Amino acid sequence: MPQSMRALVAGEVGEPNDVLRLESRPVPTAEAGQALIRVKATPIHASDLHVLRGRYGFTPEFPTVGGHMECVGRIAALGPDTEGLKIGERVVAVAVPAVPGPRVAGTWQEYLVADTHRLLPVPDRLSDSSACQLAVNPLTALLLVTRELDVRPGEWLLQTAAGSTVGRLVIQLARHLGVRTINVVRRRDAVEEIKALGGDEAVCTEDEDLLRRVTEIAGPAGVRKAIDCVAGHVGAQVSQALAPGGEAVVYGALSTHRQTDPAALTIPLLARSIIYETKVVRGFWLNRWFGTASPTDALRALSEVRSLVADEVLSIPQGRPFPLERFTEAISFAETPAHGAKPLFVFGDGRDEADGHIEPDDGHIEPSRHRFDA
Ligand SMILES: NC(=O)c1ccc[n+]([C@@H]2O[C@H](COP(=O)([O-])OP(=O)(O)OC[C@H]3O[C@@H](n4cnc5c(N)ncnc54)[C@H](OP(=O)(O)O)[C@@H]3O)[C@@H](O)[C@H]2O)c1
Repeated sequence: MPQSMRALVAGEVGEPNDVLRLESRPVPTAEAGQALIRVKATPIHASDLHVLRGRYGFTPEFPTVGGHMECVGRIAALGPDTEGLKIGERVVAVAVPAVPGPRVAGTWQEYLVADTHRLLPVPDRLSDSSACQLAVNPLTALLLVTRELDVRPGEWLLQTAAGSTVGRLVIQLARHLGVRTINVVRRRDAVEEIKALGGDEAVCTEDEDLLRRVTEIAGPAGVRKAIDCVAGHVGAQVSQALAPGGEAVVYGALSTHRQTDPAALTIPLLARSIIYETKVVRGFWLNRWFGTASPTDALRALSEVRSLVADEVLSIPQGRPFPLERFTEAISFAETPAHGAKPLFVFGDGRDEADGHIEPDDGHIEPSRHRFDA
């Protein structure tokens, strides 16, 4: 076991590329009930950057290792009296801090210590790219569709940012469940892909009117269920597009991400539509879900997600690997419109046990070579 490791650390709140530094830190030690994970791959989610900017739903203690969502790796050591897991076992570490709940170690480092109830064993046949994105977005898609809104077969579900990872997973899950989707995207280019994935209808805000199109598509009965991760004007339009008695769950605010103006961080709901059509607009946040779900329920939901991915009902879009040293490039890539693939930090030589070999992206690799399957 090495004594030290690389970690991507933010010294203070600020623009990620201004405050992040690559540091050498001692490899941590697992206590009772914990495991030391050698991280193989970990994504850069929009919310990870939000956390560093100090505009997320929780604020870690700074300096903080970045990455407060998830990773895949292998168990390098177990704390004393820790049962149920083996050294060398491949696991997803769910690093989403429960709110309220204890602090959780960031994933943008070579080794991290995690409580064993936050570890989900994963089969070797799942690629590192899929495994390291298993816990957050697929779980969110599953919870939104089946638990938060309980969308029934044949019902319409309206969703925004349908080309996002969550959006694509929602399309696949909806198809599996017989739910019909109306998918809002901001670029015309994205429409074909949405249709190819199985999205029933697509609305492009670049050149179409959201309200008019939803009315045309759903007819007089309208749409009673919606999920929105854009907020702002688009979120407001989603609430207006709902049929009377309809419900919209807001789970993201992508339109506000680069905003500092408090007035821009809103969803300007139309009071008449909310009051006279008795609609509900409410939030969903995975951190709070982890704060209320029992460990057994959380594990059950995560296991369900693992099965859906392993059985290829859900296919998690392939991420784009970056070595930790190229973090500024990876973060800029994460925020480029239409970037297409989720950036992932990858560790080690890129070689995996089962069948894959990748080299971290030099910017000129064929798409197929972005695979780094386990
Ligand atoms: N509440 C929760 O617990 C929870 C859990 C998971 C995810 N989330 C949220 O879900 C959202 C999606 O996450 P993800 O990881 O799936 O995203 P992602 O894969 O990184 O994709 C981002 C997508 O959002 C679109 N987008 C970005 N800014 C936009 C804007 N201003 N207006 C419209 N579309 C915009 C992008 O479109 P282009 O292709 O055109 O660039 C892209 O399709 C994020 O807000 C994330 O924070 C919330």
